[in-house]
Amino acid sequence: MKIRAVCLAAGEGKRMKSKLMKVLHPLCGRTMVEWVLRAVAGVDAQPILVVGHKREQVMAQVGERACYAVQEEQLGTGHAVMQAAELLDDSVDYVLVMAADMPLVREETIVELSNCAHEGADAVVLCAKMSDPTGYGRVLQNDLGLVTAIVEHRDADADQRAIDTINTSIYMFKRSWLLQALEHIGNDNDQREYYLTDAIAYIAGQGGRVQAMAIDAQEAMGINDRVQLAQAAQVLRLRIVEGHMRAGVTVLDPATAYIEGDVTIGQDAVIWPNNYLTGHTAIGEDCVLYPGNQLHDSSLGRGSKARGAVMDNAHAGEDCAIGPYAYMRPGSRVGDRVKIGDFVEVKNAVIGDDTKISHLTYVGDADVGRQVNLGCGVVFVNYDGVHKHRTCVGDQAFIGCNTNLVAPVTVGEGAYTAAGSTITQDVPAQSLGIARSRQTNKEGWISPKKKG
Ligand code: UD1
Ligand code: CA
Repeated sequence: MKIRAVCLAAGEGKRMKSKLMKVLHPLCGRTMVEWVLRAVAGVDAQPILVVGHKREQVMAQVGERACYAVQEEQLGTGHAVMQAAELLDDSVDYVLVMAADMPLVREETIVELSNCAHEGADAVVLCAKMSDPTGYGRVLQNDLGLVTAIVEHRDADADQRAIDTINTSIYMFKRSWLLQALEHIGNDNDQREYYLTDAIAYIAGQGGRVQAMAIDAQEAMGINDRVQLAQAAQVLRLRIVEGHMRAGVTVLDPATAYIEGDVTIGQDAVIWPNNYLTGHTAIGEDCVLYPGNQLHDSSLGRGSKARGAVMDNAHAGEDCAIGPYAYMRPGSRVGDRVKIGDFVEVKNAVIGDDTKISHLTYVGDADVGRQVNLGCGVVFVNYDGVHKHRTCVGDQAFIGCNTNLVAPVTVGEGAYTAAGSTITQDVPAQSLGIARSRQTNKEGWISPKKKG
């Protein structure tokens, strides 16, 4: 049986007061429409997205993930579905319709709805009970619980407004019933719009069986403004965190764990309060994230620990110790058992296993070998004001405190630099490079200056 999904995203979304199209606003690292596309992915790998307002933005973002039907003028939800009609050829048995501004709908719910299609329903309306149903369409049902019509709030009378079962705007239609109904709906209502909800009354009136399926009110939340955006993001965030906890991650304070949807975390990792894991970040098994890390598109291998670190497109291997107050910028690739200590900044650098960079150091544009020790205050002088240059430090080298390595320069394997050196020439392997003036002591220099 073939089910096609039609997601409606042509409306303007005025109440967001945004230059960005409503359904492109992000929640937990994914756009609103991305959450919806994932929810329907189980029934239709390439859903039809009805676009109109700011459609270039939507199409650029969603790309090939959807097919598109264009609604030039927003004449109502029924009119929007009509624009997709020609993509609903007769190989299609059922059509799932939903609004694209409902990011909390779960994939399981859509699967359950599609089971109604497998059982041969003519149409199904997803409903929810709302304590305050103001603004929503009310679902009218007969004694058997079958849906007879949906009445929009603005068109409803007092008795109908007292009904607390609302239309979520998610439906399953037998294709033949939907296409027939769309030919019969008009715009004789308060807004002069073609309402999709009128298709329901048509099908019921023609003897079709329209079932109601209930879901949780929270899941049915549609996003119209940024207050609702934040509320929905909060719900999604807690769902994500709970998912990790159930998979074996310890989260000490779920309320302050900001973990986006595409982050992966290994078993027995421990997340202390105030961690921000975003983008495609990957945390290995047994890692410990002490308070205050921000990792974006970054990774930590098994058993690594980080505290107060900022990592952006940076990757550290197993059993590393990062921070406190470490900054790893794009292109940082660090091996296993590496220490990136306090006030260390790393950028575009490859660092070998067992290397220690304990304090107050800048490593930029460099290849640093294994078992290297960078003393306190080492600076990789990578920029001459016009170009960036690379520095190489061989395995087991020892870079003395406060060394400047002026790139391009190479320090050979096992070589040393004396503390305070400004190294501008290569240091051969197993040698000591000293590049500072010798100390002279002026004995008795102070006493003549001191009076009395
Ligand atoms: C709609 C339902 C209402 C339901 C509510 C749930 C209708 C007539 N009413 O009302 O019963 O309780 O959703 O949130 O369907 N859209 C288009 N083209 C249009 C108009 C709308 O693509 O011409 C899209 C919008 O972008 C949006 C969705 O359809 O994603 C819903 O439209 P909206 O105007 O928000 O409908 P509601 O008035 O909320
Ligand atoms: Ca709406």
